[in-house]
Amino acid sequence: MQVVSAYYPISLDEIHTKISRKNHRKGRYKKLNFQYALFNNNLPENIKEIINDFGEKVVQVDGEIPPDSPVKDNDRFLFISYDQSIWTHGLHKYPAKFFPELPRWLIKRYSKENDMILDPFSGSGTTNIEALLNRRHSVGIDVDPFSRFLSKIKTNPLKPEELLTTKKILIESVIKYHPQKVSVSDIPAFPYRDNWFKKEIIDELAYLKKTINNLDASDDVKHFYQICLSSIIRSVSNADDNCTRTVIRKKLNKIVEPADALKRFTETILVNVPKTIEFSKICPVDITATFPENMDARNIDYPENHFDLAVTSPPYANAVDYPRTHQLEIYWLGIANGSLTPIKRKHIGTESVSVDNYKTLHHINIPEADKVISKIYEKDERRAFIAYKFLQDMELNLRECYRVLKNDGRYILVVGNNKIRGELFENWKYIMLLAEKVGFKIEKYFASEIIRHFIKVPREERINTDWIVVLKK
Ligand SMILES: C[S@@+](CC[C@H](N)C(=O)[O-])C[C@H]1O[C@@H](n2cnc3c(N)ncnc32)[C@H](O)[C@@H]1O
Repeated sequence: MQVVSAYYPISLDEIHTKISRKNHRKGRYKKLNFQYALFNNNLPENIKEIINDFGEKVVQVDGEIPPDSPVKDNDRFLFISYDQSIWTHGLHKYPAKFFPELPRWLIKRYSKENDMILDPFSGSGTTNIEALLNRRHSVGIDVDPFSRFLSKIKTNPLKPEELLTTKKILIESVIKYHPQKVSVSDIPAFPYRDNWFKKEIIDELAYLKKTINNLDASDDVKHFYQICLSSIIRSVSNADDNCTRTVIRKKLNKIVEPADALKRFTETILVNVPKTIEFSKICPVDITATFPENMDARNIDYPENHFDLAVTSPPYANAVDYPRTHQLEIYWLGIANGSLTPIKRKHIGTESVSVDNYKTLHHINIPEADKVISKIYEKDERRAFIAYKFLQDMELNLRECYRVLKNDGRYILVVGNNKIRGELFENWKYIMLLAEKVGFKIEKYFASEIIRHFIKVPREERINTDWIVVLKK
């Protein structure tokens, strides 16, 4: 018989103390109480001009970005975000996620109520949540099944009473946990499962999964708790919590103890049920957010002149491997149980390319980009093809967005640069040149210096620059 030891039952008091300690820490970074009060330099109270470490003038915006704030080409902004975990925004980590103030600002600035908004690379649905709460219909396209599952849950209002009753039942079940309540058939099979997780954690996750599935509740509510469960999986696995790839690093010395999955899940639902209730109360019922299955940003199955505005942050070449980021979550959710290659192949920027393709050097016919692709080719033929293929795919996406946008409609892309085999790959510049090729006019471009979360980069590079490119049909 298994030794249950001092780990179970978990202490609810301990979890409540942890949550209030975290809330206390957050409370110290209070948002400025601004709202358009003007200083003598005519800037709203939450906006000031500063000089960054490189001697450049930067406009620092603390919190909400005023929709009509003046923007000139090449302006640099530093946006300080406070809303990353309000409502359903913070339900799950997602690499290169928008901070909500950014799509909110762009949506308010460039569209009106009841308009139709598109995010062709919708990721965790940040654009769609903001469109919804600002009374705009939206469509989010993403080839990744995990992304669509997550986005649907985050944009779906739930009944507060049902959430509160089920939360109580789940917590009672967690307190009653015993490893003997888990049978082999409750545990999903997937590659290297017993390397990724400790035995006790596998049992706890299987118990939580079974308890959620057995709830006497609507599918929507069960899906919400499945995402809560998914959100703790990386932290209780043996993999590094802060890396976009799912990897075990021996040096990290990560400690996961029995009962950690039960504790973290309880903490997560205690925090997220109230936030989701808050979201559900303000969520309009007559506005739609749709995430079509089997759609691709290169082949948008909507008619011409359908959308008023598109806002997105596309993937990059050779950067985040999204299916690999969420592989443990995908396995536990039952979205896949074996090879991730079929999902990976659909991704723009994917590393899953075949040898036949990269034997020769390809040109995109944008001299600035072709020069860099040739340099990469000298070092690494495969990566040169990945870079070329990325731009070719982005051209297809730009064509599709041009087609589905109404005349005068805008396509706004938030794009950073990246390095491929040591060569600077200026995505935003190449995308602007491709956009002109497909017929867009470049209305504006400006920079946002952002503090990246989740993606692990050396300290001195923590502040990156994203370019915001406003294209007009
Ligand atoms: C930078 S993320 C978007 C993050 C999003 N802005 C957010 O706030 O969560 C880029 C997304 O593009 C998706 N993607 C990659 N290739 C795609 C394709 N061919 N069609 C649609 N989506 C794709 C990836 O799955 C990923 O979710």
